[in-house]
Amino acid sequence: MHKWDARDYRQSSGAQLKWGRELIAKLGLQGVEHVLDIGCGDGKVTAEIAASVPGGYVTGIDSSTEMIATARETFPPDKYRNLRFMVMDALELNFEAKFDVAFSNAVLHWVEDHRPVLSGVHRCLRSPGKILFQMGGKGNATAIMNIILALLVQPGWRDYFIDFESPYHFYGIEEYGKWLKETGFITHRIELVPKDMTQPGREGLASWLRTTWHPFFNRIEPARQQEFMDQVLDAYLKEYPADAAGLVHMDMVRLEVEAEKT
Ligand SMILES: C[S@@+](CC[C@H](N)C(=O)[O-])C[C@H]1O[C@@H](n2cnc3c(N)ncnc32)[C@H](O)[C@@H]1O
Repeated sequence: MHKWDARDYRQSSGAQLKWGRELIAKLGLQGVEHVLDIGCGDGKVTAEIAASVPGGYVTGIDSSTEMIATARETFPPDKYRNLRFMVMDALELNFEAKFDVAFSNAVLHWVEDHRPVLSGVHRCLRSPGKILFQMGGKGNATAIMNIILALLVQPGWRDYFIDFESPYHFYGIEEYGKWLKETGFITHRIELVPKDMTQPGREGLASWLRTTWHPFFNRIEPARQQEFMDQVLDAYLKEYPADAAGLVHMDMVRLEVEAEKT
């Protein structure tokens, strides 16, 4: 289990919020649906879904107790009456025919085996019910990943990364289509969508890395984490310097999945 810094994430997740909003717009909500947000994080995307369904309700689940504590504190139930948060793993969804929509933004690339997630989602949806997921997909963040992977085997760092496995699983269209079919869904769309993610300069890139690439940094003793960060930033910015507006660009690829339980 990876430990998230929920407050830091709240400050450094502008890109995830932007993409979350684009994804909510694709849901075409009528305002009365019951929605499950899988991996809701600090809850700000979940709260935007809740604002779109004043006659329905939204449940955000996340495996991180820190994230759920921050979400509950930011969006208390007395003020956000159609919104609640629960600590729950996506691999162990514990609902029966409760939701019209299962939504997930920037989460499922943290999961290696999607079949138990999809079976759980199938169980927790009503008929008809729909899925809209977006996650890191095949080819995601290749440039920064290559730089980090090259650093991990350098003499000064490799001892920290013995037996290390990347926490990310970036899947493609064919394997996802197979898993949806196996778990009883009708697939409407599976797409790999290239996205240019921008971060405000070196600091923005550093805060995005610090908050979402923490499994790499946490392998290193705290006194040396900044040195590792500086080497990643130097190498990335040398190859991909900020543009004239000071923005650093990242080559992201998102896997977007739309499917239905009939
Ligand atoms: C990058 S954050 C995205 C949060 C939110 N969906 C957003 O758009 O801002 C990834 C979240 O996925 C959660 N997560 C990762 N693996 C999970 C799992 N197996 N079950 C539930 N949540 C998970 C993490 O705890 C973290 O809160």
